[in-house]
Order: sequence, then C-alpha cells, then structure tokens
Amino acid sequence: MTDFLPLKRIDYIEFYCGNAKQSSLYYQYGFGFKLTGYSGLETKNSKCASYLLEQGKIRFVMTSSYDDNSFISEHVKKHGDGVFDIAFEVDDAAKSFEETVKRGAVPYLNPVKIEDSNGYIIKSAIRTFGDTIHTFIERKNYKGLFLPGFTDASARAPKGITDTGLKSVDHMVGNVELGKMLEWVRFYAETLGFSQLLSFDDKDISTEYTALMSKVMQNSTGKIKMPINEPAPGKKKSQIEEYLDFYKSPGIQHIALTTPDILTTVAELKKRGVEFLSVPKTYYEDLIKRVGHIDEDMKDIEGTGILVDRDDDGYLLQIFSKPVQDRPTLFFEIIQRKGARSFGKGNFKALFESIEREQALRGTL
Ligand code: FE2
Repeated sequence: MTDFLPLKRIDYIEFYCGNAKQSSLYYQYGFGFKLTGYSGLETKNSKCASYLLEQGKIRFVMTSSYDDNSFISEHVKKHGDGVFDIAFEVDDAAKSFEETVKRGAVPYLNPVKIEDSNGYIIKSAIRTFGDTIHTFIERKNYKGLFLPGFTDASARAPKGITDTGLKSVDHMVGNVELGKMLEWVRFYAETLGFSQLLSFDDKDISTEYTALMSKVMQNSTGKIKMPINEPAPGKKKSQIEEYLDFYKSPGIQHIALTTPDILTTVAELKKRGVEFLSVPKTYYEDLIKRVGHIDEDMKDIEGTGILVDRDDDGYLLQIFSKPVQDRPTLFFEIIQRKGARSFGKGNFKALFESIEREQALRGTL
C-alpha cells in the first residue's frame, strides 16, 4: 500500500507564549537549546516575534504577538503558553493538504508559497485536536537558515551555554476529552495514514484515584509517534482532566526528547533549574527484580530519579519534568531507549502517584 502522506520528519514544534523572548531563554539556559534564528520587528515582521531554538535534530519555535487581539494573543489568553503547531516536513505540501482534506481534515491554511532571496517554501496546514494544528512544510527549494523571514540570531545567543545531550523528539502526546480518544485515533489513522502501535486501558494506567486510557499512533516510517490520551473515570480528578481544565481544551500534554546518556542529561537539566517529578524510594526496592540487569549503575539511577522499564526488545530509561509553565499543562519527558520500543507501562503507576502528589499540592486532585 502506498503512503498517501509520506512525512519526512518533524520539521519544528511551535509554541505560542506570552513572552517569547523570555521563554526562549528558559529553553536555552534550562534545556541547553541554541538560539539560531529570529523573526520580528527588526526583520520586518510586524505580526509576531519568533525565536528558533535547536538542539540535535530538535527544532522549537517560541512565538508571541505584538497585537492584543491577534489569533496568537487569543491563543495565549485561553490556553496559556503551549504547543500550537507540530509541523512535518513533506515533499509536496499542496498534495499533503489535498490528501488529508480529502480524507476529512479541517483546513487551517491553504497551500501558500513564501519566498525570500534564499528560495521558496510551500506550506499548508490542517487542524487537529483543540486549537492545535499540523503544518506541512515543503522546503526542497529553500536554501536559507529555516524559513523565509528568519535571520541568523546565533550572535545573540548567550555565551557559554552547552547542550544537554538532547537529540530528537521520541513522541508527542495529545490529551483529549473523555470519550474522544477513538475519534482522534481514527483521525490519525484515516486522515493521516497513521497506524496504531500500542493501546493501554484503564487497567494498565490506574491508581487508587485516577485512570486514563491511551493509544499510540505512528506514521508509516514509525519515526513520528503520537499517543492520544483520554481520562477514564476514577475516584478523583485525573491528570488528564486537570490538564483539560487548565488548558481549556485538548492539546499537547508532553513532548518526549531522546538522549544517548540520560544520567548526564538529567544531571545537567537539574543543575540548570529544570524540575522533575520524583518517585518514592520504594520504587527502587524491587526494580532489579522487575527489569533485570541494566548497564547503568543502579545507585546512579536511583540518585538521579530515573525510571526503568523493560519490554521484549530491551529496556528504556525515562524521567518526567514538572509542568514548564505556571498552568499544570505541558511537561517534558526525557527518554533513553536501549532496545525497548514501548512507553514505560511498568512505570505508569509510580509515575501517576507522583503526579497525584503534585496535584494534591495544587489542590486539583
Ligand atoms: Fe511519554
């Protein structure tokens, strides 16, 4: 079967935020991203300021508006800071638009050619859950830094910031409302040609208080993975409901970033002020029994608060940040895969109990 939507890679992830200048510094100082591009008033962009940040293959764009009643400002007013756009690089942005809209996608942006002295790009976009979109970027005729309108900003980057070893986006998780998961699973299957990799129900993902259900969707190459969560009925408010309450709609819950050396990466992130969830000491008591031998020193794993899980293909190491803005919405996962292709099912319980402790502190459990 031919893939009607061959996605080459995640091109960039764009965040709408209240103050892109300051947010970009958080990702530089905290996460070790490098400022490489800028678009704003000085580059004749009177609409918004955008900062391009890069680390490994990861590209984030932080954007805020100059105008009080712009779409960007409305987005920030409603959702707080969060992910607006997960953009995919494609060979043909017009065809990607046509094929997905034909299959039911709601158009956001008709194919448009944008050029500067470095050539041109064609982009188009469709809506996904909440106010989130997917942009299709065709850049084969473009030689510039990033997109037309962006200038090299590397000279503005603070000196002496080293990267933290982050390499790529492993997966991006969407939270949708109760009863809507299957609808969005179908959207990714029928409209974007994704297939289902894994499924978790509330028996897999529940604690005494909260539960959720999740299905992992991936594109034909398996490089782009998007799990979709919905809350399941529990005794108290689940983390998914808390997210929906504060984000005011479905949206991106977390982005998982890969590293080849999680111990070093997480030690660096912590030193730079990124906050992580912690699990109780008891988590580590029977860990060896559960996951068997791992290459890393168990003392280091426990000392850094890393979670470990094993599947048929190997094991994985992971840790979750606290929310990265004041609203308890978007957070990050840092993941190192050593063969494992799953998502840490064995850690869900410990992780959720940890999130519930945070929710209790916020008074939102
Ligand atoms: Fe994850």
